Amino acid sequence: MSANTATATLPLTTREIQLASRPHGRPVPENFRLAESELPQLQDGQVLVRNRFISVDPYMRGRMNDVKSYSAPFALDAALDGGAVGEVIASRSDQRKVGDVVVHSLGWREYAVLDAAATSPARTDLAPDSAFLGALGMTGLTAYAGLLKVAEFKPGEVVFVSGAAGAVGSLVGQIAKAMGASRVIGSAGSPDKVARLLELGFDEAFNYNDGPVADQLAAAAGERGIDVYFDNVGGEHLEAALSALTVGGRVAMCGAIAQYNSTEPTAAPRNLMQAIGKQLTLKGFLVGGYWQHMGEFVETVSAWVADGTVRYDETVVDGLENAPQAFMDLLEGANTGKMLVRV
Ligand SMILES: NC(=O)c1ccc[n+]([C@@H]2O[C@H](COP(=O)([O-])OP(=O)(O)OC[C@H]3O[C@@H](n4cnc5c(N)ncnc54)[C@H](OP(=O)(O)O)[C@@H]3O)[C@@H](O)[C@H]2O)c1
Repeated sequence: MSANTATATLPLTTREIQLASRPHGRPVPENFRLAESELPQLQDGQVLVRNRFISVDPYMRGRMNDVKSYSAPFALDAALDGGAVGEVIASRSDQRKVGDVVVHSLGWREYAVLDAAATSPARTDLAPDSAFLGALGMTGLTAYAGLLKVAEFKPGEVVFVSGAAGAVGSLVGQIAKAMGASRVIGSAGSPDKVARLLELGFDEAFNYNDGPVADQLAAAAGERGIDVYFDNVGGEHLEAALSALTVGGRVAMCGAIAQYNSTEPTAAPRNLMQAIGKQLTLKGFLVGGYWQHMGEFVETVSAWVADGTVRYDETVVDGLENAPQAFMDLLEGANTGKMLVRV
């Protein structure tokens, strides 16, 4: 194993964001701490990465609670983690060399030491590095797999997606159109986002703050109803979709962001019984269960990105110290497309 670096110039410490306390309801700045910590010595098989972009994602809110879930809770007084893309600046691995751009899961910090095997190359020949945290990364795969593998979308169907101007939602709508949806309806939280959805090729879009979701969706869906609901929001949105779904309709249960900061259980959906008469399928999923489709997904969607069929938005915040605010703003809808922090 050859050390592939100029060791004298390597950083010995990294700035990182730690979890200082667990949020109750909405996260607040006091829940986070900017700290400096020592980097471990590079071992055989490891790389040192200078992160360029880190991802802030809604699922991280759940990991801030000390409850058993599908992913382990973040530890108090330790660095948070999550998706990141960066450049290898030192390597003791034959798998990755200095200069490689890689995706990995030690975000929320400027430098990361980790096993080369825990990194994957970013195909920067296909798109800029940041895309591998969004449209061509975990986020995009969530949209692709959720629509095609979970909801089993078929050409000619009508699709409704909530959180439609966000990272996952905007891709769901565009992939559905690219694959022959007869209509795509999206909901989002502001007039600007609604306008953006129409620019991206959605057939109908509404602002869920303008009135009851059920009324607005019923108006958009008409007599025909919807065949597929891609749920990013839960609660009132899910209830509205159950009423609008046709017989044999499917729901890909991706997220329930309306509830992530809730301190009380939510009442909706009150009409779950409709699933019986309409013979609906409601299927929850985690993107981790669909990783085997990553190759197919990147090939397909990168070609659509290249020819303009699929466009992706990014909201970029500069500076590691601003990552907590970027995360808090994400939960309040400040982002259009993928929320990223450039570090
Ligand atoms: N199952 C999985 O494996 C998986 C993987 C990735 C993501 N997800 C889930 O997918 C969903 C979207 O994730 P993302 O990364 O693409 O985030 P995102 O949609 O880019 O950002 C979150 C958006 O949620 C919306 N929002 C916040 N509070 C809301 C509320 N009370 N009602 C309706 N909308 C609300 C905001 O947009 P508005 O301005 O429109 O309110 C905000 O921009 C999340 O629920 C996430 O947890 C699941």
